[in-house]
Amino acid sequence: MADKITSSYRMSRSFYDDFITQSSWWSRLYFNLLWGGVDDTEIARRVLRWIPYDFAGRMLDVPVGSAVFTVEKYKRMKGAEIYGLDYSRDMLQRAEARLREAQVSNVTLQQGDVASLPFPDSHFDYVLCMNGLHVFPNKEGAYSEILRTLKAGGMLIACFYVAGEQKVPDFLAKHFMARMGWFTPPFDGVADVRRRLEPKYDIVNFEVEGAMLYFRARKK
Ligand SMILES: C[S@@+](CC[C@H](N)C(=O)[O-])C[C@H]1O[C@@H](n2cnc3c(N)ncnc32)[C@H](O)[C@@H]1O
Repeated sequence: MADKITSSYRMSRSFYDDFITQSSWWSRLYFNLLWGGVDDTEIARRVLRWIPYDFAGRMLDVPVGSAVFTVEKYKRMKGAEIYGLDYSRDMLQRAEARLREAQVSNVTLQQGDVASLPFPDSHFDYVLCMNGLHVFPNKEGAYSEILRTLKAGGMLIACFYVAGEQKVPDFLAKHFMARMGWFTPPFDGVADVRRRLEPKYDIVNFEVEGAMLYFRARKK
């Protein structure tokens, strides 16, 4: 499963970044007509807004991907100590090049699995998990490791695809994205996510738009 993910994300830099930022006509068509009308760049902006520019603690970004949405934000977060973890070395190379080009020096990149995080307990003030929880094969492990490494009172910020909200995205997730190895079933629905969060977190924001959920939750 992990190898499938590694090879699925080993595509050309321009393909992944153009696709996810919708800078080509076909990716715009894909997102706007088929993917419930949700604009991923806008979702990223709304999620990143929850992290203050003057944040001066320790933050984990998992999966950091190619840092396509975060580079500008991180450039301005000069007081933060940021760790970017991803399973794919290929994506990490792209992130490394992008951050270097932008002269961002407060981000440490590391290869690893979200379900086995190489960090001590209660290490992070913030965990950002953008477009990851529909991709990770071991979702239980991901939630459990994020919880372990967050400090009490620390904030988990996430956005990802949820099943059961819209028919076309559900069809695409199952028959296209999962087959390509970009998403990994089984996919949580909104109620599943609430069930996972509520015993461990105080939910601050929890919003669904199209087939995307984004939330901010504070560890109890
Ligand atoms: C859709 S990308 C999202 C990247 C970035 N957060 C963004 O929004 O552009 C999903 C990423 O999850 C990574 N990934 C998949 N399984 C993982 C795992 N078990 N541990 C860490 N990263 C993983 C993939 O390598 C890929 O870079």
